[in-house]
Amino acid sequence: MKITAFIAKKFAKPDGLTGVMVSYVMNQMNRKQYRMVEDHLALSSQDTVLEVGFGNGTLIRRLSKQAFHQLYGIDISDDMLALASKKNASKISENRVILTKGSVEQLAYKADFFDKIYTVNTIYFWQDISQCLSEVCRVLKKDGRFINVLYDSDYLNKIPMTKYGFTLYTIDVLVALAEANGLALSQTVQKKGACCLIFEKK
Ligand SMILES: C[S@@+](CC[C@H](N)C(=O)[O-])C[C@H]1O[C@@H](n2cnc3c(N)ncnc32)[C@H](O)[C@@H]1O
Repeated sequence: MKITAFIAKKFAKPDGLTGVMVSYVMNQMNRKQYRMVEDHLALSSQDTVLEVGFGNGTLIRRLSKQAFHQLYGIDISDDMLALASKKNASKISENRVILTKGSVEQLAYKADFFDKIYTVNTIYFWQDISQCLSEVCRVLKKDGRFINVLYDSDYLNKIPMTKYGFTLYTIDVLVALAEANGLALSQTVQKKGACCLIFEKK
């Protein structure tokens, strides 16, 4: 396998030693995007929150210093679950952070469970995008907030790795897909290719 395709696979599902190393590279690359989540999540002490695709759990650890009721996370990678669990061990022991293995395609939560859901750079790997967005909408409370942070297709098209296993979206297409699945766009923040799309459940 070409090295570029191999690395792309580790972004989609980080595993093994290379996956762990890639997850730390992502922490550096995604700093601006983590800040976008922190700036727009507007956490309150009552909030039950979900992160989809938490990687090594860095953003969960950062957010866990703020007020919230419970912060859940799901990721498809066993190795990321192990790493993120280690990183967030103290909050997990207090039952304030709950991390599990799972896919956004089928969320193991009841309807209207979360006040806020967010995800950073995972949407390119969601297999059935409409099914995934409708799952996000199902488990979000009415007027709940979904923050989707990503790079737009113009930016990612210039990066060779994204030819392997990434599905790239223009912002217009993604917003239309989300709106078709019950999520209304309330704000867009863009900084040099990085986009923070803030939706509310209609
Ligand atoms: C590019 S990494 C981003 C990790 C983290 N959000 C960050 O910004 O550091 C993508 C992450 O999404 C996870 N992932 C991919 N597809 C997923 C799915 N269908 N459901 C949940 N997580 C998924 C991967 O295992 C990986 O940890």
